[in-house]
Amino acid sequence: MNFELTEEHLAVQQAARDFAQTELLPGVIDRDRDEKFPTEQIKKLGELGFMGMMVDPKYGGSGMDTISYVLAMEELSKVDASASVVVSVNNSLVCWGLETFANEFQKEKYLKPLASGQCIGAFCLSEPEAGSDATSQQTTAEDKGDYYLLNGTKNWITNGNSADYYLVIAQTDVDKGHKGINAFIVDKTWEGFTVGKKEEKLGIRGSDTHSIMFTDVKVPKENRIGEDGFGFKFAMKTLAGGRIGIAAQALGIASGAYELAKQYSKERKAFGTEIKNHQAIAFKLADMATEIETSRLLCLKAAWLKDVGGDYSRASSMAKLFSSETAMKTTVEAVQIHGGYGFVKEYHVERLMRDAKITQIYEGTSEVQRVVISRDILRD
Ligand code: CAA
Repeated sequence: MNFELTEEHLAVQQAARDFAQTELLPGVIDRDRDEKFPTEQIKKLGELGFMGMMVDPKYGGSGMDTISYVLAMEELSKVDASASVVVSVNNSLVCWGLETFANEFQKEKYLKPLASGQCIGAFCLSEPEAGSDATSQQTTAEDKGDYYLLNGTKNWITNGNSADYYLVIAQTDVDKGHKGINAFIVDKTWEGFTVGKKEEKLGIRGSDTHSIMFTDVKVPKENRIGEDGFGFKFAMKTLAGGRIGIAAQALGIASGAYELAKQYSKERKAFGTEIKNHQAIAFKLADMATEIETSRLLCLKAAWLKDVGGDYSRASSMAKLFSSETAMKTTVEAVQIHGGYGFVKEYHVERLMRDAKITQIYEGTSEVQRVVISRDILRD
């Protein structure tokens, strides 16, 4: 077993770290306060190949492995989780799903612009009544021969207003349960497509989260992904990979907060010495470092399993569960170590603490990850 990163991995990690410092850090506090989408930054990330990292270059991607993706996600998320969620959704939920399951026509038309960063994608599964219980889709797609007629509402859609193309999961035959669900590629310019209200959020405030409404949207048959009835499996398989991206985002948020807290503990003096010399602080840092390292190993193990063609569903849920819990715990402690300074915006840790919370919720709550893991281990 070799824990060393390759030169290529180190180069991707460094490129993402540099980008985060030079392009994301300036303005991150303002974008969070003003709920401003990082349009320019995402455009540049696309030009640098970060929007379709794992996609074959023949479809406009960078042809990298999932380990590179984890490394990049950690570095970007240390600084700006609002930007990194855009990267994660586009890479994992949209590009990966299309490259793996779409046909050649769909890849040429939709994957190429999405992987090369010319367009942004969104993934529409959640509904007002179908969050964790993803089989209870109320959005319907009625088969009309040449096309499907799409009606319904999706909630909490990341990139809701900024996306160009939306992967939409909808019920085509209610009697068939999850086997009567399909996935479609939907263009936002089509008649009947409406971007609904923007959510005002606790964290990742720079990302745009909207509800999306479909009213008699005509979706051509050629835009259905896979065989009839494949939609639920498409969503589950895509989410299994997506959870590696969110696990790496949580890891980044945790390690960003930890690095700030460690630095602060070397500068801040109390009771006649730097606070790092107080065991109360040093032990907190020791726990943070240990849990972050564990999260990193879980993320890289899941990524490696995906890269070698293994079954990574359990590993990605474990990585997401542990990393998101670590992100929450670590950021709370980072605020505590900063004392009063931790409570004000200038010091970043309060934002990281607010951003951490969503990693325990989206792409499956911590409870959903436990469902996936427990079912898998009990099958053994
Ligand atoms: N790979 C392949 N197939 C899978 C699978 C996987 N990882 N997981 C489930 N399936 C299959 C099952 O094998 C089963 O198929 P068969 O009947 O043919 O055997 C079928 O799918 C149904 O599976 P379950 O019976 O396990 O389904 P369930 O209703 O019990 O649900 C669940 C299980 C894990 C709770 C699931 O509903 C789930 O993951 N819910 C959370 C949804 C979620 O993550 N939403 C996030 C929205 S996207 C988002 O957040 C993006 C963003 O903004 C950043």
